[in-house]
Amino acid sequence: MCGIVGYIGSQKASPILLAGLTKLEYRGYDSAGIAIIEDGKIDVQKDQGRVSNLYKIKEIENLNGTIGIAHTRWATHGTPSKENAHPQTSNNGDFAVVHNGIIENYVELRKELEEKGYKFFSSTDTEVIPNLIDYFYKNDNKNQKELKFVNAVKNATDKLVGSFAIEVLSKENPDNMIVVRKDSPLVIGKGYGENYIASDIPAILSYTKDFYLLENLEFALLSRDNIRFFDKNLKEFNKKSDTITWNAMAADKNGYEDYMLKEIYEQPTAIRETIGTRVNTGICKFDELNFTKEYLQNLKQIYIVACGTAMHAGLAVKSTIERFSKIRTEVDIASEFRYRDPLIDDKTLCIFISQSGETADTIAALKLSKEKGAKTLAISNVIGSSITREADYSIYTHAGPEIAVASTKAYTSQITLLTLLAIYLGQVLGNVKEQEVSKLVNEMLELPIKVEEVLKTTEKVKKIAKKLYQEKDVFYLGRGVDYTTAEEASLKLKEISYIHSEGYPAGELKHGTIALIEKGVNVIGIMTNKNLVKKTISNMEEIITRGAVTTAVLSESIYKDINTTIFDNLIIVPDTDESLSSIVTIVPLQLLAYYIAKEKGLDVDKPRNLAKSVTVE
Ligand code: F6R
Repeated sequence: MCGIVGYIGSQKASPILLAGLTKLEYRGYDSAGIAIIEDGKIDVQKDQGRVSNLYKIKEIENLNGTIGIAHTRWATHGTPSKENAHPQTSNNGDFAVVHNGIIENYVELRKELEEKGYKFFSSTDTEVIPNLIDYFYKNDNKNQKELKFVNAVKNATDKLVGSFAIEVLSKENPDNMIVVRKDSPLVIGKGYGENYIASDIPAILSYTKDFYLLENLEFALLSRDNIRFFDKNLKEFNKKSDTITWNAMAADKNGYEDYMLKEIYEQPTAIRETIGTRVNTGICKFDELNFTKEYLQNLKQIYIVACGTAMHAGLAVKSTIERFSKIRTEVDIASEFRYRDPLIDDKTLCIFISQSGETADTIAALKLSKEKGAKTLAISNVIGSSITREADYSIYTHAGPEIAVASTKAYTSQITLLTLLAIYLGQVLGNVKEQEVSKLVNEMLELPIKVEEVLKTTEKVKKIAKKLYQEKDVFYLGRGVDYTTAEEASLKLKEISYIHSEGYPAGELKHGTIALIEKGVNVIGIMTNKNLVKKTISNMEEIITRGAVTTAVLSESIYKDINTTIFDNLIIVPDTDESLSSIVTIVPLQLLAYYIAKEKGLDVDKPRNLAKSVTVE
């Protein structure tokens, strides 16, 4: 998705802007550009393609200006091209703007501006913004320059329908920059005699740890030594900064070949940190939630709503939540939930899972649930993200920044946090036996060690990857929670290796899909549940008879119990409680997807057509 960087200070801006854009490359983009104020004019340089193209532009190297804005664009309106890349400028070049989000009424605004004599040179929705600002600036005779600038940006944003995070440069105000956001993230990093802007903290994390998280329709007027904040009516206010505890190393590759591999290996730490100090003498603490026994007893249902991998995390814990809370729990895809008039009211608790906290469909589903009277709880990995600001309650995974497009450590951390939440709900309701809880909690505390053990299977997984990488189709089968793992494993393979795959309930195969099984087709069977293993084995036998090549993912005790000679490949994972088995089982399958993509020579961190956070519908 699009990325934004900005700098105002005493250093040459262009290297800082380009380094920031490089850090945002993981979000996915198709063009990039920068604008810098120098010698009383705004110099814009942009190109289609990679940020590395900008490094080759001589003019950028020669720009010594100390204030600038920069952008990576992921095309929504208009093809990826130099003209459509940001920054976009006003006709007279007096204003330059970079923009994340979508202006839904840009066609009407364009028409209005054309009637006033403005011309348009791109197919973007963004180009209306600098021209609107220019229009309001020119027609303001009352204010002095700086206030005129703020007023013009405010008047322009008042006309915008949609979502936006905007940075604006003004030729007449060479020592100021304005930023504003609505439903699209933007943060300001505070330095000494300099300030930074980014759509995503890792872009500027190496310069500062003090951040202002802009709320919807808050305006910031930046100068080198000062940041002034204005609300939507331009009333000035003071804003408190937040300190981020991640270090820049956590957002770097730290010696790993790719972010995805690094993030797979970070899972023991991410799980440990997510558990943190939440469990103490068998009690799960969620001080942020003030759910009373009475409120929970009155609930008719719980909804878990999310997209993609985050939705799979919801599926993985659905039965654990039901087991402990005894409240009916449904899991839904946010883009479906939001348009199907779901039956929810104040007797529903809606839980929204989003690593980034910026996924448009999940945020819209949350807003809808609030309108219908439900209490909303956000689970995110990003403090201050949009979803956490909308929700009644927020709790956080502590996975650290996830940069690779394919989600790995966020998934296992989400399952960890949701399992703790399930125990907490059971404890508040008084539904759970102490012994049952302490058994599960002990298992949770052992998870980091078990995941470390699984990571030792890497060499074995690499060998299986070498056998599979030229396949066209792969099927993943499982029952119960192993079916959820099958779905998540299949998504990982699809998105980074471009191999078609399906995660399928093992018992459902013979109702149609088995027609696709023929000699040589690869099937991965996940079997970690003692009560269900016999059933899955007979499904595996059915496909072995039809010539399938099979890989079995087995928990240790099942491995010891069954005849494994029928399988072509084996992956063994440690035993754990059924509620947690998705965590240990997904890890070798993440590795499998990773090594298959590597065998194919693909860019695992930035798979084609995908973006890290999906801030558009
Ligand atoms: C897959 C993946 C996506 C995300 C989905 C939701 O590896 O990363 O399926 O899980 O786009 O993103 P968040 O959790 O940021 O809402």
